[in-house]
Amino acid sequence: MTTTTENTAVTGAVGSARTRVEGRDKVTGAARYAGEIPFAELAHGWLVLSTVTRGRIRSVEDGPVRDMPGVLTVLHHGNAPRVDTGYMGFLGRPNPVVGLFQHDRVPFMGWPVALVVAETSEQAREAAEALEVRYEEEAHDVGFTAGHPGTYTPDAASMSDADTAKGDLAARLREAAFVVDEEYFTPEEHHNSMEPHAATARWEGGRLEVVDSNQGTFWVASELASLFSLDPGSVRVRSEHVGGGFGSKGLAPHQVAAVMATTLLHRPVRVVLTRRQMFSLVGFRSPTAQRVKLGADTDGRLRAFDHEALSLTSTVHEFVEASAGVGRVMYDADAHGTRHRLVRLDVPTPTWMRAPGEAPGSFAVESAVDELAEKCGLDPIELRARNEPAVGPVSGLPFARRSLLACFEEGARRFGWAGRDPRPGLRREGRWLLGTGMAAATFSAGVGASTAAVTAEPDGHFTVRINASDIGTGARTAMVSVAADALRVGPDRIRVRIGDSDLGPAWIAGGSMGTRSWAWAVRLAADELRELLALGGSIPPEGITARSDTSEAIGALAQKERHSYGAQFAEAAVDITTGEVRVRRLLGIFAAGTVVNPLTARSQLVGGMTWGLSMALHEEAVRDPASGGYVNADLAGYHVAAHADVPHIEADWVDDHDPEDPVGIKGLGEIGIVGVAAAIANAVWHATGVRHRRLPIRPDRVLAAAEQARGRAREDDRGA
Ligand code: MOS
Repeated sequence: MTTTTENTAVTGAVGSARTRVEGRDKVTGAARYAGEIPFAELAHGWLVLSTVTRGRIRSVEDGPVRDMPGVLTVLHHGNAPRVDTGYMGFLGRPNPVVGLFQHDRVPFMGWPVALVVAETSEQAREAAEALEVRYEEEAHDVGFTAGHPGTYTPDAASMSDADTAKGDLAARLREAAFVVDEEYFTPEEHHNSMEPHAATARWEGGRLEVVDSNQGTFWVASELASLFSLDPGSVRVRSEHVGGGFGSKGLAPHQVAAVMATTLLHRPVRVVLTRRQMFSLVGFRSPTAQRVKLGADTDGRLRAFDHEALSLTSTVHEFVEASAGVGRVMYDADAHGTRHRLVRLDVPTPTWMRAPGEAPGSFAVESAVDELAEKCGLDPIELRARNEPAVGPVSGLPFARRSLLACFEEGARRFGWAGRDPRPGLRREGRWLLGTGMAAATFSAGVGASTAAVTAEPDGHFTVRINASDIGTGARTAMVSVAADALRVGPDRIRVRIGDSDLGPAWIAGGSMGTRSWAWAVRLAADELRELLALGGSIPPEGITARSDTSEAIGALAQKERHSYGAQFAEAAVDITTGEVRVRRLLGIFAAGTVVNPLTARSQLVGGMTWGLSMALHEEAVRDPASGGYVNADLAGYHVAAHADVPHIEADWVDDHDPEDPVGIKGLGEIGIVGVAAAIANAVWHATGVRHRRLPIRPDRVLAAAEQARGRAREDDRGA
């Protein structure tokens, strides 16, 4: 796009580091989040969750609780208003967990069974904890295992095919000079956004108004309208500041509970989830059991690629963690198979979580490719370079621009990869064994339809209205830069309004598609406004507004494989006495199109890589098979990498300009996590000579694996 280049030349806002527009408000506490905005007459709702894993509610003994101080009402399946969960929403059918109190069945531990509303949050909590709910319990199954007898093939895998297949896998594997056939396991992981989900709902002038924390106000508003059978125009959702989402902040029980209660009580009602409640109410990343088979020629060229991924879902809703999607765009072979399998258990429904599919999928594939490099006696970068596909391995489509090799090259140079001795277990520093590892990363560069409006104000400012969501990413600031360049004015003349469903439809902060999608709409509106202003004349008090809608433009996008890429490098130290793994260095080099704001872009990437480290070494939700509930549903038991766990992380990018791309900007919210766990696991292998195919790489697993390896060595000695 020539206009883009011209614009950049004019103000240079895109590509320049800018601190967040709302940064000062955030660090001084002036920025208010959904759970802390004051309302007159505010009442507080507290959810009561099931304490059994499967069964029926026999009774909700709400009588005594209704007499407790401050209690206004108790909602449950015996008295709650009916809602419609049969609609088709923005991303498919709603998760039945949002159909609050519609029946007496309990499908998992932590299912919402009642809402207590009181004058204060403390009174609501006190009463909720006193509420006695009686159940008829049934036997449950929460055990996720490879080969579970309930395994089935889903119709589709998260907006793509469940399975793909070409060629004769068995034959190509038989002929291969080198074969890797291994299983990889990742545990259940949780989003754990810093800010818990919170919503305040009220009726105002005949409209339902919800102040919420979400990844898309138009999305949540349209779902609430469908669920409560309301005219979409009569629902307004606002979400000014959001303390993280990572895929968990769409429609969830808290908004629905607040809307039900405000409708009954005729006063504003707030519902905030506790950290513990988030574990069962807002989704999570399914555990996975993945089998990868690779067959290669003597020169390392893949002849067979096969990836089967098992994940779990609940008994009430289907969600597939699309881990086997990675190979569909990364590695080609004469015979190529990718398959998703599911098992239904008595657990909450998983959902999208930062790099859904790619995060666990890349752990399996990028570990297996490292194992293949070891067998072939090739450097892992060289092996990958030899297997760069000419076209999409499954789609057959050309790549718009595939900058993976450039990432490897720059990454290898910066990390000091050259001259690495490939043999494992050689470097030692006192009780620490040291090793390095790498992995490739990719994430699709999608785009979603959005509308925008740009107004030239009489005071010389421009107001940009785009229903973006800033979930901590710096979206608001990015839109200032994009608009400044598109309008060819300084950023100080741009005001941006986001996070309000009244601004109209726009893509959500999801799928790493936000900035790309919103920027396109803002540019189209800005271009039109410049044309209007070029006609001359004075600006009326209400300003001059141009609007855009990218629905048609995105339909015309040429059919190509469009992705971001990355190369992840890790150095790990393994304490042979305790089994502790310390990551000493992480370097990620990415190709993600035009980088709008290097400051916030780097934060996003470093944040993603920190997630990857956390996934490799720490995160793991543990379920008690006897009760069916979590044993670590809090941040004490579920360890997310803390400051002391995280080494110096470097993230940077290479030029990824694609003159044919209509936006030029790609996403980088998710790619930062992709491949990191594999890079670390590969580094741990390089340090110790032991492969870890099960995450997280805990000290007890490191010690047990070392013990096993010693046992094998002793047997070999005896056998010799
Ligand atoms: Mo992300 S999992 O697309 O919010």
